[in-house]
Amino acid sequence: MTDPFRPLKDAFGRFATGVCVAACVNQRGEATAITINSFTSVSLEPPLVLWCIENRASAFDDFSRAHSYSVSILKQDQQHVAERFARHNPPPLARNDFDVWKTGAPIIKGRLAGFDCEIVDRHQSGDHVILVARVVQFDSYPGAPLLYFASGYANGPHTD
Ligand SMILES: Cc1cc2nc3c(=O)[nH]c(=O)nc-3n(C[C@H](O)[C@H](O)[C@H](O)COP(=O)(O)O)c2cc1C
Repeated sequence: MTDPFRPLKDAFGRFATGVCVAACVNQRGEATAITINSFTSVSLEPPLVLWCIENRASAFDDFSRAHSYSVSILKQDQQHVAERFARHNPPPLARNDFDVWKTGAPIIKGRLAGFDCEIVDRHQSGDHVILVARVVQFDSYPGAPLLYFASGYANGPHTD
């Protein structure tokens, strides 16, 4: 069956992005993580970011209940991490694969940058919810990003 949204997806996919993993702690006290490319910086003062979650995503309920989330920007050698958390019901992270800061949400080790955030706004918009959050802690490292373009992964330029 042909996907009626394919032409729009193809056009949206011409916008090259980085790749991130967003994570929160669910009601069972475990990590829920999802691969995203809708991450955007919003404001410096106060420091705000956002990303959008699809209403039908299996992670949707956990992020709807969460008060906070983390975002890990992936390096070029972390495509396997992106693929893992783009799958339905991914296996949980091993404890030595992530850091934990203030909110408790796991931040993936080996990242290019990480943000620990408290959710301050939710906007229902079409078939997604926009989750706006205040950055409470962050870091960044030298390296090259994992990129996403036209439904495929690519490597970006190295930065110090
Ligand atoms: C590169 C990439 C970026 C993605 N970005 C988002 C996103 O910003 N928001 C979202 O809800 N899903 C995004 N997804 C889809 C989710 O990672 C995941 O595949 C989807 O929720 C299906 O899992 P589910 O069957 O458990 O719902 C992205 C997937 C990929 C591969």
